[in-house]
Amino acid sequence: MSRSLVIDNIGRLITNDARHETGLVGELLDAWVVVVDGLIETVGTGRAATADERLDAGGGCVLPGFVDSHSHLVFGGDRADEFAARMAGRPYEAGGIRTTVAATRAATDGTLLDRAASLLAEARRSGTTTMEIKSGYGLTVVDEARTLRIAAGLTDETTFLGAHVVPPEFDGRADEYVALVCGEMLAASAPHSRWIDAFCERGAFDADQSRAVLLAGRAAGLGLRLHANQLGHGPGVQLAVELGCASADHCTYLSDDDIAALAGSETVATFLPATEFSTRQPYPDARRLLDAGGTAALATNCNPGSSFTTSMPFCIALAVRDMNMTIDEAIWAATAGGAAALRRADVGRVCPGGRADLVVLRTANPIDFVYRPGVPLVASTIVGGAVL
Ligand code: NIG
Repeated sequence: MSRSLVIDNIGRLITNDARHETGLVGELLDAWVVVVDGLIETVGTGRAATADERLDAGGGCVLPGFVDSHSHLVFGGDRADEFAARMAGRPYEAGGIRTTVAATRAATDGTLLDRAASLLAEARRSGTTTMEIKSGYGLTVVDEARTLRIAAGLTDETTFLGAHVVPPEFDGRADEYVALVCGEMLAASAPHSRWIDAFCERGAFDADQSRAVLLAGRAAGLGLRLHANQLGHGPGVQLAVELGCASADHCTYLSDDDIAALAGSETVATFLPATEFSTRQPYPDARRLLDAGGTAALATNCNPGSSFTTSMPFCIALAVRDMNMTIDEAIWAATAGGAAALRRADVGRVCPGGRADLVVLRTANPIDFVYRPGVPLVASTIVGGAVL
């Protein structure tokens, strides 16, 4: 039997639906949304339709659920000491990943699942309704496959990141490790993965090694994404565009050629500003990309080393304050932008036929994400029509 829900008394509804010619985010005032069987049935303004159940938005703002297209939620241990040392002046280095690899290999499946599930629940409370989860802290055939199996129990958006760093047992033999990633490790991981990724960066994998990994993943039927230009200028963004990756992630250092390449492509630039916050790197200037016509997403990069937060509202605040995005651009990037980075048409918008993934705020004005940072503004998160 069908179940319907009306969310009414919405002071401001952000739809991201271009059919509403009300700015970038397709904003409607005094609005309502009807949900049937987990999907959005209708959207309107004024006198609300009736339904089996009603959720009063209290005059607050309702927006699409956040689409967090970049996280590393399955890991053991933490790196609080490393973070404290960084706050005292030590620079961030990719090598810290190996600390988490050791802790992850030593952890049981139950410990890893409990931690990841509790981080996902935390993300839901701050409005995230779709979450991508990468592997990358196992780096053996068995540990990559098991961390992806755990991730696949929590989300459909799983990414095989065997090419995160070269593990210690392959020191000095990076190409042999890449061959393992492209062969046996990919074969064991692909059944649990939708995407493949590589960390194309000094201290991790070069362009040729990253290309080999992504092409092997494509041959195994996986979609492509790439960690690019996080710690300095490099070949990552150009490689992501060349291979038609859905997303180039980080994009902290972008040359004019990188901007032009992204703007002329279908590759989304996924910015991860909580990483710059946590590593004390300079923030990227999203304005340059947006003014050139590129597509931007915002994501948390939740991981224990460079960005230990699940909060998309925090990322929005940083994007507006430190990356020269307007509040509408930041909200679009955290919702429709994330959906584009995952090549999903069913999330990131409030449109008839789409998934009923919504966030109800305690405020009518989303600038409060920046104006009132750190304050819990999310009243309810709705996932597939279920009010959490
Ligand atoms: O996205 N860049 C590579 N991977 C993570 C870092 C993870 C870590 O330091 O453990 C990132 O920042």
